[in-house]
Amino acid sequence: MLPDSWKRLTHISSEVSLETSAPANIALIKYWGKKGHQLPANPSLSLTLKDCLTHSSFLFRPSDSLQVKLYLDKVEKPTFAQKIKNYLESLQNELPIFKSLDLTIHSHNTFPHSSGIASSASSQAALGEALVRFLALQTSTDFDPMLASHLSRLASGSACRSIYKGFVSWGETREFNESSDLYALNINTHVHPSLHYLRDAICIVSSGEKEVSSRAGHSQMNNHPFLSARIVQAETNYKSILKALNEGEWQRVGEIMESEALTLHAMMMTSNPGYILLAPKSLDVIRLVQTFRREAGVLVYFTIDAGPNIHLIYRDEDQQKVETFIKHELSPVLENVIWDRMDFD
Ligand code: PMV
Repeated sequence: MLPDSWKRLTHISSEVSLETSAPANIALIKYWGKKGHQLPANPSLSLTLKDCLTHSSFLFRPSDSLQVKLYLDKVEKPTFAQKIKNYLESLQNELPIFKSLDLTIHSHNTFPHSSGIASSASSQAALGEALVRFLALQTSTDFDPMLASHLSRLASGSACRSIYKGFVSWGETREFNESSDLYALNINTHVHPSLHYLRDAICIVSSGEKEVSSRAGHSQMNNHPFLSARIVQAETNYKSILKALNEGEWQRVGEIMESEALTLHAMMMTSNPGYILLAPKSLDVIRLVQTFRREAGVLVYFTIDAGPNIHLIYRDEDQQKVETFIKHELSPVLENVIWDRMDFD
């Protein structure tokens, strides 16, 4: 899907510097399992956060071969640079310009990098956007977010959703004609106004490194005994949550979101070999939230990424009650809380 004019580019004549920023996103319907080359086994749906951002500056210089250097908060990170080099090498057949490029990246995350929040979606979306801006500059064409989403996906699947604000869908579905496995789609107009500006309190129970990478987890889905049932379930949940979002049925949205989070971790536990990314404190938080919801009648729901930390999602109108609950009842089991919200504008 890349423009032919980009494929004809072989070298740059002068250096280009540019800056991009991209946010993290949290999936309500989880992408877990791949098919083909970085294509999702099932459609996913996420909300893009406002304040958890990666800011990056890029310097593209002509070179005889591909060179990549990456600095995170001014500290050189050769392992991250190698990953980006591998990614650019994988694109060289289609984009020969990446054979003769010297790329230096300086990155900064607005959220603490030992916070346990995956920075791959925000950092790879910042990279995808930078590459598209760079290639568009070389060919005097306009920035196309769809291409940025496509290139971000090839770097890290869920990053393709971070190109858009608000509610974002990724993967081919009958619900949207323009949907694709290749890039994400903004679906804000499909969501009831009462559900705009949801809040996310990211409850950090452990900020350590993950024991099993997402890459390994996705590939374990290939021969997972529940793969076909999971795909059917994800498609059903996707359809149901879309209807609930459209009708402003927050309770229904929350129930589906929690079921998706628990399923994600159930898939990990029932992989071969099985593994557990939840910590004892993750379960404490889940139980406390369920009790609070039942007793106080406040509709706050959890979702969980591939890690032990718990995202609590709630509406603006419940902000005070939920935040008081988190500060008083959850704080003893938490390392930290990152307060974020959705961004629509
Ligand atoms: O984008 P990846 O390859 O890091 O996979 C992300 C998978 C989950 O975060 C667990 C779910 C999702 O849809 O974001």
